[in-house]
Amino acid sequence: MSFTLTIIKPDAVKKNYTGKIIDDILQAGFAIRAMKQLRLTTEQARAFYEVHKERPFYDDLVAFMTSGPVVAAVLEKDNAVEDFRKLIGATNPAEAAEGTIRKKYAESIQNNAVHGSDSPENAVREAGFFFSYLEWS
Ligand code: RTP
Ligand code: MG
Repeated sequence: MSFTLTIIKPDAVKKNYTGKIIDDILQAGFAIRAMKQLRLTTEQARAFYEVHKERPFYDDLVAFMTSGPVVAAVLEKDNAVEDFRKLIGATNPAEAAEGTIRKKYAESIQNNAVHGSDSPENAVREAGFFFSYLEWS
């Protein structure tokens, strides 16, 4: 079994979509290995999205990700990273396929409801960012 890391972002938590999104994830065949709600500090959000620090949207992204609580979870499934990216859809909800989580719940390219790891290596890094090894292994 492989795994991925998701974050239900502040826009979706604020609109009480947490339950609907978790249901979609479970119905798609993912199992939850670990899950928690927390509010990221600026420092933590900057570190999590460090790969984007040179991008023009970085400061806005950090402000958004710290604007309210998020729900982080480690999800288990065969081919978890790739299948989860399919389930959430394109970064920009306007371009996301019908039935995807971002199509259904996202507001904009930034306020796009959920995060999904983009590689198995990053899934390890990101799971370790939110959870101790004992919590998700
Ligand atoms: P994520 O990392 O959150 O799963 O999203 P992603 O791979 O689909 O997109 P990525 O390129 O990694 O961008 C990370 C997050 O930054 C925000 N963003 N804003 N204003 C913009 O043009 C813009 N582009 C990206 C989104 O919240 C995106 O998910
Ligand atoms: Mg990404």
